[in-house]
Amino acid sequence: MRSREQRAESGGVSTGMAIREVLKMGDPRLLAVAQPVGRFGTPELENLLIDMQDTMRHLSGAGLAAPQIGVGLRVVIFGFEHSPRYPEAESVPFTILINPQIKPLGETLDEDWEGCLSVPGMRGLVPRYRELRYTGFDAAGAPIDRTVKDFHARVVQHEVDHLDGILYPRRIRDLSQFGFNEALFPGEIIVDE
Ligand code: NI
Repeated sequence: MRSREQRAESGGVSTGMAIREVLKMGDPRLLAVAQPVGRFGTPELENLLIDMQDTMRHLSGAGLAAPQIGVGLRVVIFGFEHSPRYPEAESVPFTILINPQIKPLGETLDEDWEGCLSVPGMRGLVPRYRELRYTGFDAAGAPIDRTVKDFHARVVQHEVDHLDGILYPRRIRDLSQFGFNEALFPGEIIVDE
């Protein structure tokens, strides 16, 4: 991969970071079905992944999908380090997941609160499969195959939904459980997916 320094020297971004604008709900690009990645290891894919990582970290997100920065490819990134600030959330290893497929394991759905960088400042109670197997490819095209549950499974479902043009508010069963962070969780610091 090109380093951030090389990228800065090449012209575009004086800070060496490539933080991209995150599209907000209402933008039609968030409703489109994204296309599979056909070639791995290209400069275009590497640059996309750098931009996504810089953007996610800048916004302290737990995940980001390429369509959220206006790129209609089936690429998601996610990861969450356990923090005393969020004692109930398990850590999730940082993952680049390309052309993902999800297979729910069992019928059990759990409801929990989700946010999204494309729906800033809000939170909703969303049902998701508790456990699933996901497959896909990393940045080099090597296969990924994991069986996960709980928060890890939730984040994957949220991100893969972005690739199919679905934002989490459409999954909320009871819209009385949808609102602004400061009203729902006063004083809490919250991460968005
Ligand atoms: Ni999201």
